[in-house]
Amino acid sequence: MSVLFFKRFLQRPLQIASITPSSRALVKRVASKIDFDRARVIAEYGPGEGVHSRELTRRMRPDAQLLLFELDGALSRDLARQFSHDRRVHVINANAAAISDELRRRRIAQCDYIISGIPFSILERGKKRHLLRQTHDALAPGGAFIIYQVTNELRQHATDFATAESEYFLQNIPPMFVTVFGKDGMRNGSNGVHAHVHAGAVSSNAR
Ligand SMILES: C[S@@+](CC[C@H](N)C(=O)[O-])C[C@H]1O[C@@H](n2cnc3c(N)ncnc32)[C@H](O)[C@@H]1O
Repeated sequence: MSVLFFKRFLQRPLQIASITPSSRALVKRVASKIDFDRARVIAEYGPGEGVHSRELTRRMRPDAQLLLFELDGALSRDLARQFSHDRRVHVINANAAAISDELRRRRIAQCDYIISGIPFSILERGKKRHLLRQTHDALAPGGAFIIYQVTNELRQHATDFATAESEYFLQNIPPMFVTVFGKDGMRNGSNGVHAHVHAGAVSSNAR
């Protein structure tokens, strides 16, 4: 699967932005930021060949859902094949900026967590801000947006979020900043994450 990832990098170096998938240590570190007991809806931007997605599905509740937004067609097809047996996973071959439309279409109100590996730093400022706004809107109160990036420049743009906690993680080539942006708010009397799926309305749309 890394061979496919490398081939896609050669085709679209700016979009893929890395020659190898995240290290096992980075995958575990990112997953450690998630409370899987409570997470019902998780979205992942730029899953690539699925190194984080596989860990997420290993830890997710049986009734949770994972929405994978991958821009690359070949990687999306590979993800759909990998997760064809797992009804919790939905592969969406689209720009992550389509998250609001996708949630509406699937009648999911909001996500508990959004994980991102897309190269935000190369996005033009307007697109970056638009995607951040979409992401903030797509999160439930008390939800979190978790990114891993070579630079930490997104912090200066992510002003809608109530909190931001970063660490510099060395056990990856290249080392990455892992940042958790928290969305403020309380709902139903507690301040944790919440499920916001309208009953019985979600269907698979793997392509
Ligand atoms: C650096 S790779 C990360 C892959 C994987 N998450 C990992 O950790 O190894 C970035 C991925 O994001 C995808 N991507 C880039 N921009 C995107 C966007 N706007 N929406 C969805 N996916 C995007 C690329 O196609 C690529 O698969």
